[in-house]
Amino acid sequence: MPWKRRPFSTGGLTRALNISDLREVARRRVPGFVFEYVEGGSEDEASLQCNRTSFAALRLVPQTLVDTSSRHQRVEILGRSAAAPLVIGPTGLNGMLHADGDIGLARAAAKLGIPYTLSTMSTTRLEDVAKQAGGRLWMQLYVMKNRAIAENIMSRAADAGYEALVFTTDANVFGSREWDRRSYRQPGKPTLRAQLDALRHPGWLIEVLGRNGIPRFKNLEAFLPPGAASAVGGSTIIPQLFEPTITWDDLTWIRRIWPRKLLIKGVLSVADAERAAALGCDGIVVTNHGGRQLDSCVTPLDVLPEIVAAVGKRLTIVIDGGIRRGTDIVKALALGANAVMTGRATLYGLAASGERGVERALEILTTETDRVLGQLGCNSVANLGPHILRRC
Ligand SMILES: Cc1cc2nc3c(=O)[nH]c(=O)nc-3n(C[C@H](O)[C@H](O)[C@H](O)COP(=O)(O)O)c2cc1C
Repeated sequence: MPWKRRPFSTGGLTRALNISDLREVARRRVPGFVFEYVEGGSEDEASLQCNRTSFAALRLVPQTLVDTSSRHQRVEILGRSAAAPLVIGPTGLNGMLHADGDIGLARAAAKLGIPYTLSTMSTTRLEDVAKQAGGRLWMQLYVMKNRAIAENIMSRAADAGYEALVFTTDANVFGSREWDRRSYRQPGKPTLRAQLDALRHPGWLIEVLGRNGIPRFKNLEAFLPPGAASAVGGSTIIPQLFEPTITWDDLTWIRRIWPRKLLIKGVLSVADAERAAALGCDGIVVTNHGGRQLDSCVTPLDVLPEIVAAVGKRLTIVIDGGIRRGTDIVKALALGANAVMTGRATLYGLAASGERGVERALEILTTETDRVLGQLGCNSVANLGPHILRRC
């Protein structure tokens, strides 16, 4: 019989060689409606797909016969040293994937020596993450109808020692993630099919619901009507909390209140990047929300060079969307990003095996980045630049 290549099918964490393998472990471990929540993009998922194809459209040009035995991937992020050019990005409802949830993600980030960003829609109180995980913590902020919620989050995050605030600006008109919505008959109410599928995942039921009960939006509990704090079907509930009235005036208001580093997450144009710099931001996250908001959106990688040319000397530039390989990280840095944010890549690790799974995801990404630097003939991120890239 001829030898056949078999894709990764089983074997757990240690046999997961890459992020795609981890995704497969995660897919088997959690019910379909949970996986769909993580996986889905909006509408035709064109933004989601293009986030990946924009990386594939760039090729790397190695330099040969360079001694790279002393290579490293340390960088400065917001003026402080980080062990890798990575930040774990904000994602809501992490407690639905694994009981370790936000604490597992934050601990894995702290162990590696990179920042973790806690979502406003987290299932753990921001104070508990600071106490139980420590490390470099960034707080993501959604400004909702009730501005008192944002004031409350900012003052609590400042008291708890969070290093930076990440103001997300691209979700106030919520994206329609159709595959995710199909799992619910109405907001927060999974279909019978989704419920039966959950019963076919007893490991997840015991681990997630057995350990902590139904995950809740713990940061917002005081502000939500009874029953609305349950995080089941969060992406069908969250839209009701937002309204499209946030403007640059809100940024000015936030800048007055928030005393530390401030980033704005949702920038995709030079004009908006310039405005963020003028209003006193310390950084921007160039992002299309992982393809979950505007469909047919430009990809962060496409617009990165022009944004770097305009504000790269004034702002810390973080990029996200579609980061799955060390080659992706190196390409983004070569185009001038100071760091990349992970979204789904680290969530696959969390869903696969909690904190250990996140550690494995970070280990995969940093090992790949190290190998790519070596193969390119680069001793550090400082050696990267547009000269190592060709568009195909
Ligand atoms: C399940 C999930 C939940 C998310 N929740 C938030 C959130 O609460 N706040 C936010 O600013 N971005 C959120 N995002 C967007 C991520 O921060 C990030 O921009 C995106 O995931 C990057 O793309 P990638 O997943 O392809 O790496 C979420 C993304 C996912 C996949």
